[in-house]
Amino acid sequence: MHLLSDLTLDDLADAEQVVVDVDLRDMNSVGQLKHALDRVPAIKARTFLVDEGASERVLRVQANALGATRHMVRKYALNALRREYSVTGRAPRTPAAEAALRADAGGASIVEAERSLEALFESMLSDAPMSLQAVSQAAAGVLASVRAVGADAWLASVRQHHEGTFQHCLLVTGVAAGFARGAKLGGGQAAALMNAALLHDVGKAVIPRHILDKPGKLTPEEFEAVKLHPGAGFDYLRKHGNVSPLVLDAVRHHHEALDGSGYPDRLKGEQIGPLTRILTVCDIFAALVESRPYKETRTPREAINMLVDMSISSKVDYAAVRTLGTSFGVPLPPEFGDVVRGFTVTRPHG
Ligand SMILES: [Fe+2]
Ligand SMILES: [Fe+2]
Repeated sequence: MHLLSDLTLDDLADAEQVVVDVDLRDMNSVGQLKHALDRVPAIKARTFLVDEGASERVLRVQANALGATRHMVRKYALNALRREYSVTGRAPRTPAAEAALRADAGGASIVEAERSLEALFESMLSDAPMSLQAVSQAAAGVLASVRAVGADAWLASVRQHHEGTFQHCLLVTGVAAGFARGAKLGGGQAAALMNAALLHDVGKAVIPRHILDKPGKLTPEEFEAVKLHPGAGFDYLRKHGNVSPLVLDAVRHHHEALDGSGYPDRLKGEQIGPLTRILTVCDIFAALVESRPYKETRTPREAINMLVDMSISSKVDYAAVRTLGTSFGVPLPPEFGDVVRGFTVTRPHG
């Protein structure tokens, strides 16, 4: 966001769209605005914020003269723009694509989990309560489905039909189900892990989609914005979610590292609980096997090997990596010492 009086051409260099919030009754501001917009004719999408009411019509006409491509009522604009720039703003699936998804392995449970995620992101954006019951039901559905069709087939269906943040959140949920199944977790433990997986990135609802979906490296400022998501999700769920302290803790700390180099609280070692450690390895594994146009999709074996490397460099918990490896057909030695002492893993690229 830039003040009109301080605006430079550089500020607009990469802009695809401008949102103009200027008092069009102030001729001085209008002059400055016209000067600025005349110098960036390539920016075709120009949203002007206006007030409601008949007396404002003349200002809408004036906005059009300045190249407005749409008007937005000022008092609703913040929420509307947030929605537009959030993961919730994606286009709905066509009926044919929905039918194809339902016909694939685990399709019904994927649709239900997707609906639950949609509702969750929407509720977070409007700061409204979420339904823990709906989340738990969807999460239990994923667990049952992964038990029935196998984690690999379930994950393949998600990769086929989803992209971006939705794909990621669904994959983490499917990977967690694979873990729960492989580790033979009991009802309560499995439910906590599944809920934590489905909820873990709800904070991404408030991170602009163009940052979340950016191909390639984030700028330091963009990374700072992304780093807000675990805290934002935790704050929202604590306020509105009726979520257990264990699951809340996992949501807040799923980007911590055992050596203290993670975020947001730079926790270390024993400060990071067992559920969080498991969620973290599921999250990283899911990110590695994700399908993105600009990123290589790793096989489960490659992903596990990379996690083994991360456990050797004291980032993630080896026991959790080992259980995940077993769950995805990549057995590892029981003792971490054996890994460090030269157990050779198949390296992804030599
Ligand atoms: Fe995350
Ligand atoms: Fe994540």
